[in-house]
Amino acid sequence: MHDMRIIGGKPLEGKIRVAGAKNAVLPILAATVLTDEPVVLRNVPNLFDVRTMLEILESVGYRCAFQNGQVTVQPGTLNTKNIPYQAVRKMRASFNILGPLAVRANEADVPLPGGCSIGVRPVDMHIEGLKLLGFEANIAHGVVQTRRRWKPNFVNIVLKFPSVGATEQLLSTAVLMNNINVVINNAALEPEVQELALFLQAMGASIEGIGTSTLRVQGVEKMHGVEYEIIPDRMEAGTYMMAAMVTSGELEIHGIRADHNESLLQKMRSIGSEVEIENGIALVRCRSRPRSSETFVQVYPGFPTDMQPQMTAVAAVSKGFSFISDSVFKTRHMHVPELQRMGAKIHIENGSIIVEGIPQLSGAPVRATDLRCAAALILAGLNADGETVVQEVDHVFRGYDQILEKLRSVGAEVEVVPSTNGNGKGPIG
Ligand code: UD1
Repeated sequence: MHDMRIIGGKPLEGKIRVAGAKNAVLPILAATVLTDEPVVLRNVPNLFDVRTMLEILESVGYRCAFQNGQVTVQPGTLNTKNIPYQAVRKMRASFNILGPLAVRANEADVPLPGGCSIGVRPVDMHIEGLKLLGFEANIAHGVVQTRRRWKPNFVNIVLKFPSVGATEQLLSTAVLMNNINVVINNAALEPEVQELALFLQAMGASIEGIGTSTLRVQGVEKMHGVEYEIIPDRMEAGTYMMAAMVTSGELEIHGIRADHNESLLQKMRSIGSEVEIENGIALVRCRSRPRSSETFVQVYPGFPTDMQPQMTAVAAVSKGFSFISDSVFKTRHMHVPELQRMGAKIHIENGSIIVEGIPQLSGAPVRATDLRCAAALILAGLNADGETVVQEVDHVFRGYDQILEKLRSVGAEVEVVPSTNGNGKGPIG
């Protein structure tokens, strides 16, 4: 484990280029097992989570090469029962290989994802959907054992919530169910889901309704190899835009997809940030403290849950009282006590976060519990007076490619050192 040391209080200025989207590339990598032809992906971010997914693909018999943002996946003999729990435990998205593997090989054993610090995250919709698609799915010894048992002609799935993971799981299973029509109702609309659907189409899938909440799939017999470019990461772009806000800085964010960030851009403008966007470059300027706001986290196109902790950090230094509620992960509050340690006037009331903004946070040792909590604490540290040590900062490397280099390039004083609790394996930057 490592810590990030930050000397805060400096306005960030300069350019940052956004990497490929983590949440798009992970289900796309999982879906590569649908074909026995090579797949090439470009603009792949260099992240722990991507390497975990490549490890999983290797465990099922595929060979993967990852260099200069390009991943090549070479098919091999499929092994459907060898996925290590260690990998699935590290990253919930690895569970998304279950459906593609089961439809390709008629069987798959995948360990249940472990607990998650952002709250209870069941996989009941994944399992129920797979059963409707004709699979038997039994859980034994912590492993979901899936066997294809029958072939329905038509399947109508109604998700009880527009879950990103369940939509992706069921979509990337249905596409290879030859001659079977599947409708997924109440499907998630997130850009990463749309991207998976476009990728599957490029592999030969027949999908109608991409970008709507009703996906209609006509299963095909075979999928083929493809070369595909991954969209920019909207959470990474959003986090750096907020870094400009909490440091009263001016950043150019290159490679942003404004259409994927509308709710966030609207929020930033409404609290006093100037944002100009042209040709995929956002110029973000915020020379005074942001104004207070009410933020209601919702599924896409609403304000994203993966920006909620960072938004809390912004609210902590905004003028007046802010209110934040998260309807996707209702107990995503782990960043709150850590921000309190830095002087934030913040509390939880009936599941919502209430913040009375102060002019500046005060540097302190804090602990990151998950990816976006780490991102929020880094933003807080960049604002704070004096030194902040974000312990167990490694979570952030799951989702932010080259974060240390990017922050340094815009003037942040940051370094990563072995964890003060002695688990570090040497400096990494
Ligand atoms: C994905 C994202 C994650 C993001 C989340 C919500 C990836 C790799 N991860 O996670 O970064 O925070 O979407 O935008 O893309 N639920 C159930 N049963 C299920 C599945 C989900 O009850 O079978 C619930 C969850 O507990 C949660 C809600 O549905 O409360 C949304 O979860 P979901 O959209 O599935 O999130 P993930 O796909 O896990």
